[in-house]
Amino acid sequence: MPTALDYEPMILRPRGTEPTPLSPIQEEILELKRARNAVILAHNYQIESIQRVADYVGDSLGLSYQAQAADADVILFCGVHFMAETAKIVNPSKTVLLPDLAAGCSLSDSCPADRLEAYKKANPGLYVVAYINCSAGVKALSDVICTSGNAMKIVGRVPADREILFVPDQNLGQWVAQKTGRRMRLWPGSCYAHVLFTVRALEKIKARFPGAPVVAHPECVAAVRDMADEVCSTELMVKFCRETPASEVIVVTESGMLHRLRREIPDKTFIAGPTDSCACNDCRYMKMNTIEKVRDALRDLQPAIEMPEPIRSAALVPIQRMLDWSRA
Ligand code: 13P
Ligand code: SF4
Repeated sequence: MPTALDYEPMILRPRGTEPTPLSPIQEEILELKRARNAVILAHNYQIESIQRVADYVGDSLGLSYQAQAADADVILFCGVHFMAETAKIVNPSKTVLLPDLAAGCSLSDSCPADRLEAYKKANPGLYVVAYINCSAGVKALSDVICTSGNAMKIVGRVPADREILFVPDQNLGQWVAQKTGRRMRLWPGSCYAHVLFTVRALEKIKARFPGAPVVAHPECVAAVRDMADEVCSTELMVKFCRETPASEVIVVTESGMLHRLRREIPDKTFIAGPTDSCACNDCRYMKMNTIEKVRDALRDLQPAIEMPEPIRSAALVPIQRMLDWSRA
């Protein structure tokens, strides 16, 4: 029998569809955006004030397509480093800005390019499928990239006679292997934020909201994924929450997601999936971007993403393969 929650859950309840007025700094950002001929792309985990000034808010896959199609002079990417790096790889003539260059990713860090290179050398013939949460150096060593939104489709396109090495997320890899029946070697990386969700914490929140379905990100561990009614990317979470007949949904991912959900589905209630020690779960890297840093980046046109051209052009090959396979 689950015990009571030790804290108040984070709940975003329905609110009127009338948007609150923008703050002076948000207005300043919109003005700078026009002056710089910039487009602002933001991940679903960004803080609400950033999401509201963005031209597009979405998951890694949607953001990659948007970055490639962008025809503004400047792409201000509000997300983490590997996402802005991907934007630069697919659209190199643009100035790509990231509000805080230190906004990294534990998954990306778990697979350094030199270690992958050594592993490939010791195990020749592997077909490397890399989750997009990795550095440009790792992408350059990979055969195809995937995101949580297209991983099953991408793995399904890999020739059947090739053994797959899936990097760097063992949880996403394990989920894809379960769903597709394809055996894969899994790199032992994980997202520090998503592995904090536990069965115990989920049992407690489910007991408090018994009618609410659970939607979880595939970066969660298997025992948590098994408790979910749906496991999917952040973009597909919006679809699930819109289509479910339920009026309350428990959302097991980074808490920024709830802002997008409430904006687009204003008549439902969203409950943040808790961890054992807190009511919600923030990614410390995603939260390094602040509204002030967004303003400063547009004003100063820095920090900008740069990388050596040989790495960029090598990394483009598996990204482009993903974008083509994903569209088909
Ligand atoms: P999505 O592509 O599903 O938005 O996931 C990105 C991410 O970093 C999840 O932690
Ligand atoms: Fe990386 Fe996890 Fe943060 Fe996503 S939530 S950016 S996988 S550390």
